Amino acid sequence: MPKSDNIWYPYTQMHDYTKYLNRRIMRSGTGFYFCDNEGNRYLDGVSNMWCNVWGFSSNRITDAMINQIRQIPHSTIFGIGNNKSIELSNKFLKLTKGMNKMFFTDNGSSAIEVALKIALQYWSNQGNLKKTSFLSLADGYHGDTIGAMSVGYVDKYFKSYKRLLLNCHVIPNPKKVTLDGIVNLEKLNVIVERTEKIIEKNAHKTAALIMESGAQLAGGVNIYPTGYQKRINEMCKKHDILLILDEIATGFGRLGNMIEYISQESVPDIVCFGKAITGGYFPLALTLTSKKIYQQFSGNLGDQKHLFHGHTYAGHPIGCTAVIENLKMYKENHLLDKIRSNSKQLKKRLQDFQQIPIVKNIRAKGLLAGFDLAVNGKPITMVDNIPINYFVMRESLKRGVLIRSLGDTMIIIPPLAIDSFSLNKIMDTQLEIVLEINKRYVG
Ligand SMILES: Cc1ncc(COP(=O)(O)O)c(C=O)c1O
Repeated sequence: MPKSDNIWYPYTQMHDYTKYLNRRIMRSGTGFYFCDNEGNRYLDGVSNMWCNVWGFSSNRITDAMINQIRQIPHSTIFGIGNNKSIELSNKFLKLTKGMNKMFFTDNGSSAIEVALKIALQYWSNQGNLKKTSFLSLADGYHGDTIGAMSVGYVDKYFKSYKRLLLNCHVIPNPKKVTLDGIVNLEKLNVIVERTEKIIEKNAHKTAALIMESGAQLAGGVNIYPTGYQKRINEMCKKHDILLILDEIATGFGRLGNMIEYISQESVPDIVCFGKAITGGYFPLALTLTSKKIYQQFSGNLGDQKHLFHGHTYAGHPIGCTAVIENLKMYKENHLLDKIRSNSKQLKKRLQDFQQIPIVKNIRAKGLLAGFDLAVNGKPITMVDNIPINYFVMRESLKRGVLIRSLGDTMIIIPPLAIDSFSLNKIMDTQLEIVLEINKRYVG
């Protein structure tokens, strides 16, 4: 057996890992299943941290990646081109209405950092040195680097780093107006009015407002009411602040639309993509901007107006190849149609949960769903004296499925191209686990 305790796992209390999570080690994958060192199979119920599209078997993406590595394993884009990043930009920018330039990074958090730097410099390049802070939506999450944590501050994760974080104001979250998934329009209007007051008050010192596009994930699966994002976009324009949208987790079909901001009628100034764009096979992320933004970075070298940012693996040809092939597979397999029909199945299966006493506030869009677990108005955080997320993971693995909860929020986020049988298996497993928890609390 290889020694496994050299590794420090992300977001994992290593003490608990040893105690509760049974040290499963994955070796290979086939279809939508991981296979561990002992030959056990686990259905991927978390989309491999929200990026798995096609599963683990070979396909045209993996074949093209292998072919590409034989051409050239990497080719820098610092002041010089590579053919795959150019081919990708030509294809991608046709999909992203209003966007004109593409900047490459290798993870979502870095794509957000770039977006923040671009927003700040957009103003300073015009001589406006006052617009230095950001507005963000309460319960947003944008990654784990300093800038991303600042604009997506989640107290329970980030309080140790608070002293390092940037100046940021928070606008209220419309989720507070949903009651069992139904939006109270009057209350929504109150939230929007409060938001506008905050924007108005801070506009002179605000470079940009940033929010996830269509829904928040890590902040608790909060799906925006129809029209909300459009109204935020209009307010940003009215008060002369930039809008940055984060489609890292919600774009590329997760909510049933290829490009979520188009369906939300809210073309931003800057938008970030990551996760599923490579099919989930390569660390690559993108920050796109409109022409208006890009133009402010043009000048003589001595003006120092250009963007001072770049990662070693920016524009990686293997990652770009993966995105190009992934786009072809979306089209050939009519993936968006499939997601929409799977979404109907998912919503139907959610009815099984409606009568369970501990299940609260079920919400769903596309292939994303969530609901909270609570008893007597209090979130359920522990089951059998262990934290609920470990309980959920442990019980799901026992049943041959990998599921993680977001604390007391159960999240359903299957691979985008999942088949109906496997989707049912994820839902069956969720149901069994929720019923187990219900038994412990309600009987
Ligand atoms: C909405 C959103 N933005 C940004 C990120 C950060 O992406 P990465 O983990 O690739 O840094 C995530 C990750 O979950 C996310 O959900």
